[in-house]
Amino acid sequence: MESITIAGGPRLRGSVRVGGAKNAALPILAATILVPGEHRVRNVPRLRDVDTMTRLLEILGAKVERQGDEMLIETGALSGEEAPYDLVKTMRASVLVLGPLLARAGQARVSLPGGCAIGERPVNLHLAAMRALGAEIAIAHGYITARSGRLRGARIHFEKQTVTGTENALMAAVTAEGSTEITNAACEPEITDLARALGGMGARISGAGTASIVIRGVERLRPLDHAVMPDRIEAGTLMLASAITHGDVLVEGADPTHLGAVIAKLREAGARVEETPAGVRVEGPGRPRAVDIKTGPYPEFPTDMQAQFMALLAVSRGLGVIHETIFENRYVHVAELKRLGADITLDGNLAIVRGKPALSGARVMATDLRASASLVLAGLRAEGETVVARAYHLDRGYERLDEKLAGIGARTGRIKERL
Ligand code: EPZ
Repeated sequence: MESITIAGGPRLRGSVRVGGAKNAALPILAATILVPGEHRVRNVPRLRDVDTMTRLLEILGAKVERQGDEMLIETGALSGEEAPYDLVKTMRASVLVLGPLLARAGQARVSLPGGCAIGERPVNLHLAAMRALGAEIAIAHGYITARSGRLRGARIHFEKQTVTGTENALMAAVTAEGSTEITNAACEPEITDLARALGGMGARISGAGTASIVIRGVERLRPLDHAVMPDRIEAGTLMLASAITHGDVLVEGADPTHLGAVIAKLREAGARVEETPAGVRVEGPGRPRAVDIKTGPYPEFPTDMQAQFMALLAVSRGLGVIHETIFENRYVHVAELKRLGADITLDGNLAIVRGKPALSGARVMATDLRASASLVLAGLRAEGETVVARAYHLDRGYERLDEKLAGIGARTGRIKERL
């Protein structure tokens, strides 16, 4: 198993390019199920989660070929409608094949995803949306079995904003009979990117990116050809790497309009953030100021940046309070940050972080994707060497993050360890 080594200290300088967005690529790859043909998806990052979605598409009968940053997906002959447990348990986003399979084949059998490190992760809202569109849903033996004739347009109200729930509803509704209105839809940029990809297939969608989306069902779609948007969470993580190391880094390709809440908090913490046509330039302060963070649905501060910002608070001047409102257990990184010397107290969904002038490098364990990014960031600043075990968590959602950091001056490496 691989671990990442980080020698703390260097101030990062230079420019680094952000890749395609994981959380846009995954639904867009699932959308190729909607119509037979040869689909082309561009700017697809090389990630374990993309590999998992690729394997899932192949199990369903698609042929998938990668050509550099592009993927060709041929979905002419779907031979199956089942997303098996051993795949779904490794990636919850596998549930994104539910809507497209129902729209294409009128049936789907998807393993219940089960929980993960950050929470229970139910899919009840996904199922309610499918039922609203006319599907019959049964749950037995850990699987969701869904059946439908042609789906019928409906009014879908999400009692809670759900990103993949909105995406499943969007994909199921594009060829439903009649119109669908989704209210309290999630507004994340990845949903807008999916809607753009679906529009390129001939779907008729208005309001994506707002809480109210209208889809007019169409009779037929054509294969998609779409370039995935830049990854705003990878961009935010790279921006924090500059902020935590008193660096000066241009994150090329970052779209500042997707990062309003993160940029505002970085500026409040004393970083200088410049929005340029090439991307976002971040100059970190010698020592950041403590700030308070409250996560929420887009455009509020993204929960996927909470762990990374906690690393910055750990070395800030003052006391910062983090309020995680999306997931019930997204503090698994706290115990590991404390091994690096961070002073953090948990109280329910609040984390009180007392900034310290220095952290000290240590062996730590990655537990989930963003927690591992947080440990890498803390390691950049900690005195001495930090070793982050179970690097596969990081590789699920970041393409070669350690190498990208090394390219702007970090002293990072990889070692194989028997753990
Ligand atoms: C997406 O997960 C992202 N994943 C997550 O990113 C991200 O943290 C999350 O949205 C929130 O922004 C992908 O897009 C692949 P939700 P998703 O449904 O869709 C509850 C990462 O690090 N809920 O918006 O699974 C749920 O428990 C990952 O890249 C229900 O109760 O999240 C949570 O409290 C981690 N019932 C809240 O809603 C449901 O049916 C928001 O979850 C669905 C969700």
